Amino acid sequence: MLAKAALRDFYESIMSTAIALHQVNKVYANGTVALRGIDLTIRKGEFVSLVGPSGCGKSTVLKLTAGLSTPTQGYIESPAVVGDRDLAFVFQDAALMPWATVLDNVHLPLKLKGQSLRASRSRIQAALNLVALQGFEHSYPRQLSGGMKMRVSIARALVTNPHILLMDEPFGALDEMSRSRLNGELLHLWEQYHWTVVFVTHNIYEAVYLSNRVVVMAAQPGRIVAEIPIEVPYPRDEEFRTSPQFNQYCRDIAHCLAGEAMPTPPLSTTPSTATP
Ligand SMILES: Nc1ncnc2c1ncn2[C@@H]1O[C@H](COP(=O)(O)OP(=O)(O)OP(=O)(O)O)[C@@H](O)[C@H]1O
Ligand SMILES: [Mg+2]
Repeated sequence: MLAKAALRDFYESIMSTAIALHQVNKVYANGTVALRGIDLTIRKGEFVSLVGPSGCGKSTVLKLTAGLSTPTQGYIESPAVVGDRDLAFVFQDAALMPWATVLDNVHLPLKLKGQSLRASRSRIQAALNLVALQGFEHSYPRQLSGGMKMRVSIARALVTNPHILLMDEPFGALDEMSRSRLNGELLHLWEQYHWTVVFVTHNIYEAVYLSNRVVVMAAQPGRIVAEIPIEVPYPRDEEFRTSPQFNQYCRDIAHCLAGEAMPTPPLSTTPSTATP
């Protein structure tokens, strides 16, 4: 009976895991120890933010998860690692093709899957509408602001409707109003499509507003120092952003980032079960 229950739990944990890093170390060729002893499990449909100081290895976690880099030690469970392309990456810099129009840049992932521009047109248009770039289809990246380039990059990620979305400071270059609007849009889409999102940000408020769980990292070596579940149901709204509970979460994360012990009473450190 016990064995059966244990087997069921094991099976359920495998089936519900989207990404897992097990005791991952990453040492770059020049000897930089970017990550040490990273253990992180992200369930399907979960929205997890990574916060931490510059150089603590946030982008490295995403690159390893996307299969763009390999761990020095430990192992990673991710669809990318077994060659599945059902995963999209919004890079820290927009990484657009300068010689191609907005339309062609957003078409790229579909083109790589063999889909013509004509057949892809409505999906590209829908992705551009989501990031409010309709009317800029024929512009080149040099004609766009930093924030607009980033929005093209987000449209390029969304156009394939991936199950896993890795986002590296996607809204860092945006003004507060655009950031707030896109935060709302992103949550709306996440609830609608049940994506798994791993989101890197320096903005504590953004992390708390968006996430099921905030993972706090520290540098030298890059490591996880706290995992804080944000146990507030979705949909979240302006009322949440201005609530005492929101401020308390932000304060707790700021404490962790400052290397201080969690204030008492501590928040639970078990992963949140709140999904859309
Ligand atoms: N290709 C590379 N070769 C050597 N060292 C690297 C390489 N990429 C990253 N690093 C180093 O690894 C560490 C972690 O870098 P990473 O880019 O993951 O940090 P980050 O948390 O994303 O920082 P930021 O917030 O500034 O983007 C840093 O010390 C960085 O200098
Ligand atoms: Mg980075």
